[in-house]
Amino acid sequence: MWYQTKASEILGIQYPILQGPFGGNLSSVELVSTVSNAGGLGGYGAYTLSPQEIIDVDQRIKATTNKPYNINLWVSDTDAIDGSVSDEQFKQTQALFKPYFDELGIGLPEKPAPFKSRFENQVEVILHQKPPVFSFMFGIPSADILEQCHRLGIVTVGAATTLDEAILLESAGVDTIIASGFEAGGHRPSFLAPAESSTIGTFVLLQLIKEKVKTPIIAAGGIANGKGVAAALALGADAAQIGTAFLATDESNATAIHRQTLFSDAAKYTTLSRAFTGRLGRGITSRVAKDLVNMEKGFLPFPLQTQFMSHLRKAAIEQEKWDMILFWGGQIAPVLKHTRAGELMKSIVEETTDYFDYLKT
Ligand SMILES: Cc1cc2nc3c(=O)[nH]c(=O)nc-3n(C[C@H](O)[C@H](O)[C@H](O)COP(=O)(O)O)c2cc1C
Repeated sequence: MWYQTKASEILGIQYPILQGPFGGNLSSVELVSTVSNAGGLGGYGAYTLSPQEIIDVDQRIKATTNKPYNINLWVSDTDAIDGSVSDEQFKQTQALFKPYFDELGIGLPEKPAPFKSRFENQVEVILHQKPPVFSFMFGIPSADILEQCHRLGIVTVGAATTLDEAILLESAGVDTIIASGFEAGGHRPSFLAPAESSTIGTFVLLQLIKEKVKTPIIAAGGIANGKGVAAALALGADAAQIGTAFLATDESNATAIHRQTLFSDAAKYTTLSRAFTGRLGRGITSRVAKDLVNMEKGFLPFPLQTQFMSHLRKAAIEQEKWDMILFWGGQIAPVLKHTRAGELMKSIVEETTDYFDYLKT
């Protein structure tokens, strides 16, 4: 059967379909358990959570499913040297964004306290809670952490945006590798070359990796239905990770306006931008995203830019100025059909099965 792949065996799931984890408070326990209970692998993006919050989430997931699930972290979670920037850089950013803050009638944010990486404390919780699967992006955890995962029976999943990154993940002994194509919604998880020069489409990246790497590959980016899953499997993937289509379902933690926008005409146009967080990510094109193309010098490093923009975002939401927000989403959004995660899973499985049955006739 098409669903009996190396990845479904390693991950302990019935169907080789992963619900992409969403950072930034967009994941939900309900979405994770719906997907896992339907035979896929639900995923929770936890990189902004405190260790205690991760424990709570993990316990809530364990209470709602006895199937495998995934918790996701960002290995590198800051680009700011010593967690901060110079006063001069901060003033430059304030000046660039002042017209938008003025438009919303709010003051400019003050320079925040230096940011401290959270990964080390977060990963300790992963090793303690032992979720069945631990996926990560923006780098590779230390050999010691990976060794402990293997010893504890936690399956590891790393993300690559280039062949070089996939080769490095394999040599580190990661159990499965995500081929993360540039169609995908959310951040580009590049960690060797700049994200701007790591923009390969999913189906090219998948084939490049397949030629050189033996570790099972999970295709991610631009897949939203059974035809997409079948195409990924035909090209050598062992599983598909689907983000935008699950983000658009009622069970995700995206706001109603975010989900509506993913189903609207606006979703035909997406942009890769650093303006909203400091790292390159794809969302539905908005006025601010368009205005700030090629203005990278005026942005703060991640995550200081996220903190800076959170003030603008809050006021824009309160005033319903949607053109000042970047609603995260991938290029595949215009083909989305389902608003319920269970129905989406069912339809993906049926469509993929139909496709492989058709090939036999
Ligand atoms: C809003 C959003 C947030 C995301 N956050 C994360 C994250 O924190 N960690 C991660 O590994 N992948 C993250 N992703 C990537 C997804 O897990 C998935 O790989 C990707 O969405 C697949 O491409 P698609 O959007 O075309 O389906 C995010 C994607 C979106 C849309």
